[in-house]
Amino acid sequence: SKPEPLKVMISGAPASGKGTQCQLITQKYGLVHIAAGDLLRAEISSGSANGKRAKEYMEKGQLVPNEIVVMMVKERLSRSDSQESGWLLDGYPRSLSQATALKEFGFQPDIFILLEVAEDNLVERVVGRRLDPVTGRIYHLKYSPPENEEIAARLTQRFDDTEEKVKLRLQTHHQNVESVLSMYEGITVKVNGNDSKEDVFSQIDNALTNLIEQKNSTLGSM
Ligand code: AP5
Repeated sequence: SKPEPLKVMISGAPASGKGTQCQLITQKYGLVHIAAGDLLRAEISSGSANGKRAKEYMEKGQLVPNEIVVMMVKERLSRSDSQESGWLLDGYPRSLSQATALKEFGFQPDIFILLEVAEDNLVERVVGRRLDPVTGRIYHLKYSPPENEEIAARLTQRFDDTEEKVKLRLQTHHQNVESVLSMYEGITVKVNGNDSKEDVFSQIDNALTNLIEQKNSTLGSM
C-alpha cells in the first residue's frame, strides 16, 4: 500500500519566507498549499461581511478572530485534494486555541517547520516585497527582482506591508509563538531562514526527504 501523504506545517515571523518556501515545496512535493493569510485576503476580495471584519484586524497586525479563521482552514484541509495529495499549512495555527481546535478536528501534522530570521532582515523583506497578481509569484525588489519590464509594471504591494505595520505583526507573532511551539515539541524542525532562499529550501528539502524515508520504513516493517 501507499504511504500516507505528507502533512506539513510551516511557521515563522511575518516575511520570514513562508510563502516563498511553500512555492518551492509544492513544486517538488506536490502538496496542497493552504495559506491562512491568502484565504483571508480572498475573503476580503469577495466583499463578504467576514472579509470586512477580517480586514480590520489585519490592518492592525492582530489575529483575526477564531470564528472566522478556524472553519475556513478546516474546510480547506478537509477537501479531497488535500486529503489525497497531502497538505502544507502556512500561517496556521497562530495561537494555542487554533492548534487545539485543529487537533480536535483530527488534523495532526508530521512535521512543524519554524523559519528563524533576524528582525532587521524581516523589516527589509517586508518593505521590498511585491506580488504578481497574474501568477501569484512573490518578488523582492532587491533579492528576487522581476524577470522583465512587463512583470515589473504590474507588481502590487500588500496593504499591511509597511514598516509600521510589520512591527505590530511581529509583536503579535512574539506573543504567540512559544505556546504554539509547545504543541509540536517532538516534531519541530527549526530552520535558519537568514540564508538565500535556495539554501533555506535545501534545509527544508532534507528534513522532508528524511521524513518520507521514515514513513516508508515504518510502513515496510508493519
Ligand atoms: P500572512 O499573510 O500569513 O502574513 P505573515 O505571517 O505576516 O507572513 P507574510 O505573508 O508577510 O510573509 P512570508 O513569511 O510568507 O514571507 P514571503 O515568502 O512573502 O498574514 C497576514 C495577516 O492575516 C496577519 O497579520 C493576521 O492579521 C491575519 N492572519 C493570517 N493567518 C491568521 C491566523 N491563523 N489567525 C488569525 N489571523 C491570521 O517573503 C517576504 C519577502 O522576502 C518577499 O519579498 C520575498 O521575496 C523575500 N524573501 C523570502 N525569502 C528570502 C530569502 N531567503 N532571502 C531574501 N529574501 C527573501
